[in-house]
Amino acid sequence: MTRTYNWGILAPGNIASKFVAELQEIKSAKVLAVGSRDLARAKEFADARQIERCYGSYEELAADPDLDIIYIGSPHPFHVAHTKLCLQHKKAVLCEKAFGMNVREVKDMIETAQREKVFLMEAFMTPHQPSYREARKILDSGLLGGIKHLHGWFGFNKSPYDMNGRLFNPALGGGALLDIGLYPLFDALWFLGQPRKVEAFADLTPQKIDQSVSVSMQFDGGKTASLFASFMSSVGVGTDIFCEKGALRLRRSSALHQTMEILLQGEDIRTFEWNEATCGLKLEAIEAMKCMTENRLESIVMSHQNSLQLAENLDLIRKKSGISYHL
Ligand SMILES: NC(=O)c1ccc[n+]([C@@H]2O[C@H](COP(=O)([O-])OP(=O)(O)OC[C@H]3O[C@@H](n4cnc5c(N)ncnc54)[C@H](OP(=O)(O)O)[C@@H]3O)[C@@H](O)[C@H]2O)c1
Repeated sequence: MTRTYNWGILAPGNIASKFVAELQEIKSAKVLAVGSRDLARAKEFADARQIERCYGSYEELAADPDLDIIYIGSPHPFHVAHTKLCLQHKKAVLCEKAFGMNVREVKDMIETAQREKVFLMEAFMTPHQPSYREARKILDSGLLGGIKHLHGWFGFNKSPYDMNGRLFNPALGGGALLDIGLYPLFDALWFLGQPRKVEAFADLTPQKIDQSVSVSMQFDGGKTASLFASFMSSVGVGTDIFCEKGALRLRRSSALHQTMEILLQGEDIRTFEWNEATCGLKLEAIEAMKCMTENRLESIVMSHQNSLQLAENLDLIRKKSGISYHL
């Protein structure tokens, strides 16, 4: 018999509402409780989604003895404290990206999970997605030959922006690198491994928030990558991988719609497409519950090492480009 996992939702904001909508479609998941800093907000969120229990503090949520796992949807400067709170109450944790503000925080979260012997995973969608798994398979098959260069980007422009909102406010972890730049960075690390050399440049606001960031990377074997992330450029999300015999193009118009194209010289373009049935935040939840069923404390799809490597390289890019989070 498949067991049902009771989920708690910590910080019912923008992404938490999308996550809950997908979680409620999974048979083995029950969204049992929600915790907000404000009881009225928790109640409103719970009532709109038929969630039984609501709490006016994160501490009460973490202490609910009936919860198996808690999803953390607060802004990234608070992830370390909120994750540790839940882990110390022996609750498994699925915590939004950026996992921490720097590698020190990420190590602290992982060490706490290991000490408490509780499951912990960064809610990072990419490696769970079928487009990426298929791309990996095709590249490993040798069809396109070796990779020479990767170009990844993520950009949008929704100006005029609220400078006090999460994207631009230093106190809320504002900046393009941690909000969206980590996606093209993850692609470079996932397809090319650890870089030997990194250079980076940021366009900073007067509050020293990176509204755009550009990165050049060099890897073993002469491979290179160029990455770009921006709140000021409406370019969408994509990754092009240039290989010896052709190219592979990954695109996503939303988390729920993705395409991949294979370009081989002398052949028609091969196009693959995935839609909402196979994409989305629910893949992370399914992986977390699978790991818990198998009594594993970390995922092999999005491992602790994946999160550490991402954080280490984010720290390096921040240092190279003069981005400071004032922490
Ligand atoms: N995976 C994805 O596709 C994706 C997409 C968007 C965002 N994210 C990540 O998810 C996290 C949350 O992003 P979001 O856009 O959902 O944020 P948001 O809506 O601005 O905030 C989320 C919630 O955090 C809580 N919170 C706790 N301390 C806070 C503080 N000091 N100031 C403001 N809010 C605070 C608030 O809930 P209460 O006060 O009610 O407790 C708020 O509603 C970020 O780390 C972001 O990078 C991921």
